[in-house]
Amino acid sequence: MALPKRYTVTAALPYANGPVHIGHLAGVYLPADIYTRYLRSVGRDVKFICGSDEHGVPITIRAQKEGVTPQQVVDKYHALIRDSFQDFHVSFDVYSRTSSKTHAEVSSGFFKKLYEEGKFIEQTTQQYYDEKAQQFLADRYIVGTCPNCGNENAYGDQCERCGTSLSPTELISPRSMLSGAPPVLRDTKHWFLPLDQYEPWLREWIVEGHKSDWKTNVYGQCKSWIDQGLHPRAVTRDLDWGVPVPVPGGEGKVLYVWFDAPIGYISATKEAFPEEWETYWKDPESKLVHFIGKDNIVFHCIIFPTMLKAYGDYILPDNVPANEFLNLEGDKISTSRNWAVWLHEYLADFPGQADVLRYVLCANAPETKDNDFTWKDFQARNNNELVATLGNFVNRAAVLTHKFFEGKVPAQGELTDSDQETLKQAAEFPAKIGELIENYRFRDALAEVLNLARLGNKYLADTQPWHLIKTDAGRTGTVLHVALQIAAALAPLLEPFLPESAHKLSNMLNIPLGKWDSAAQLNALTAGLQLQEPALLFGKIEDATVEAQVQKLLDTKKANQLANAPVVAAKENISFEQFQHIDLRVGTIIAAEKVAKTKKLLKLTVDTGLDQRTIVSGIAEYFIPEALIGQQVQVLLNLAPREIKGIQSQGMLLLAENADGSLALMQPGQPVRNGSGIN
Ligand code: MF3
Ligand code: ZN
Repeated sequence: MALPKRYTVTAALPYANGPVHIGHLAGVYLPADIYTRYLRSVGRDVKFICGSDEHGVPITIRAQKEGVTPQQVVDKYHALIRDSFQDFHVSFDVYSRTSSKTHAEVSSGFFKKLYEEGKFIEQTTQQYYDEKAQQFLADRYIVGTCPNCGNENAYGDQCERCGTSLSPTELISPRSMLSGAPPVLRDTKHWFLPLDQYEPWLREWIVEGHKSDWKTNVYGQCKSWIDQGLHPRAVTRDLDWGVPVPVPGGEGKVLYVWFDAPIGYISATKEAFPEEWETYWKDPESKLVHFIGKDNIVFHCIIFPTMLKAYGDYILPDNVPANEFLNLEGDKISTSRNWAVWLHEYLADFPGQADVLRYVLCANAPETKDNDFTWKDFQARNNNELVATLGNFVNRAAVLTHKFFEGKVPAQGELTDSDQETLKQAAEFPAKIGELIENYRFRDALAEVLNLARLGNKYLADTQPWHLIKTDAGRTGTVLHVALQIAAALAPLLEPFLPESAHKLSNMLNIPLGKWDSAAQLNALTAGLQLQEPALLFGKIEDATVEAQVQKLLDTKKANQLANAPVVAAKENISFEQFQHIDLRVGTIIAAEKVAKTKKLLKLTVDTGLDQRTIVSGIAEYFIPEALIGQQVQVLLNLAPREIKGIQSQGMLLLAENADGSLALMQPGQPVRNGSGIN
């Protein structure tokens, strides 16, 4: 088959409502980056497109939660995401954002053309409206019970527990995310993309056309969608955050985020390559590939292609290699539960070690089923595979060359049969690895790169240059020559996966990082070339390092449990009479010291307005005595005095107790005269 003339590679635009985590990387950005770097290395014309998805309800909900504007939310996360991708060496040709001017023009123009050509259905339907907040409740603004699985917190567009895609009116006992109130139904006009009209075409294009080349998980999901019957889908929303609907009657409405976001791929290309963008999107000889997570399949395989088809003159995706999900330590990654390894935090905790994470995430990528990331596995793969296999091979070849040949590449003498066999096997790797990458089998491809290092290690173990040098310097030179050529071939093959290490390796060998095809030649190094000082490509990761990461997760788990711990049930009612017996006052702590030989007790002196009295309180674990002095507190005055550790305690301090046992002082909201009654 003829090679495509050029490639348009997209990676799902991340929502700018939070940072990127390892699940995103393993599922989308890392495979996309490996694929693109490989294509560049084999000399193909490729553009790698991404940007922030800055519209939609997830953004506005986040803004409301944080008490800031949607623009502030997207500005913050766009910068954070863009920078962490860069530090992770994701080699986008453009990283744009859907709040850009170009995007507003392109997406708006896209909608307008479809509208003018009558490709939409215009329909007034009833939608939920929050009378208190005076707003229609699109998508995630409405929650209720899932009709499919009973999850009480299903969203208006999807149930996250069972994965069913929903429409708001299917929810049982719907409630507004804004006010919590039960919403009412109101008339509103929207534009619908009639997916049903495209069903025969989709069936032919996907069900017949991509049965054998799309991944089974992707193909299966598409087929089941199509088999269930497609329905017109609203592509506008009653919201004020998004691209305004540019047609009559569209006032106060915006494009549905899943309508505008994928067009973001096109606008980003146009923005970065104003001259040539069209060839990447319209020339049938261009190959379009979407890298996404499995929750994005229907949008990229059915809805966006239908939009492109309806528009005309656009190419369609050739493949959509969606991955499954990555779990973390046996639990589903969750932004709301903070159950994730965040990229920006990893980069801060492991400076200069982007490649280790790239390696582990690729070696363990959820390509065909959900997979689990554990810190133990992270450490083991680094120590056993990167350090002990790859790093060790390269290091031995370099160190021995320095030891025996002053760091100069020795000349290659006559090759034995086994030298030739080793070189022949090594020469087969570039094609094998390349084919795996072109078929989106990145795990297997990376495993083959490691196998090449294993071949090198085996060669050194078989030939034993460290012994050979004692008897035959010439032969030793040949062995190291062969080993060094294999090490040099590893650099370009490693580059798509571990770009930083690949550059380190070629610097150490004092040669430019070659292209893919050069690896098969095994002649990158000429005899006499002076190598740089050997440096370790990878360092061992110690137990304490990963234990600290595990502890971080355990802390998160604990915080979540506490946050969800049930509040203690109410006590029985008391009469007003009984309440009147209780004498509560405001007082000021004027002295505080630890009670000797106890862990928990503080001896406090409190000015109650009536007297200065001693109160012994079990709060030493949560307060520094000095910090308490001068604080106003609530005191139960008429609790019968009792002796604690030989001290007469007269009364009790009121404290609020958290689920984890930590305590907070109950203080008046503003200074009050000591002795003031509390009732
Ligand atoms: N923001 C979406 C998500 O994170 C992905 C959007 S992909 C695009 O799930 F095609 F719409 F851009
Ligand atoms: Zn459900």
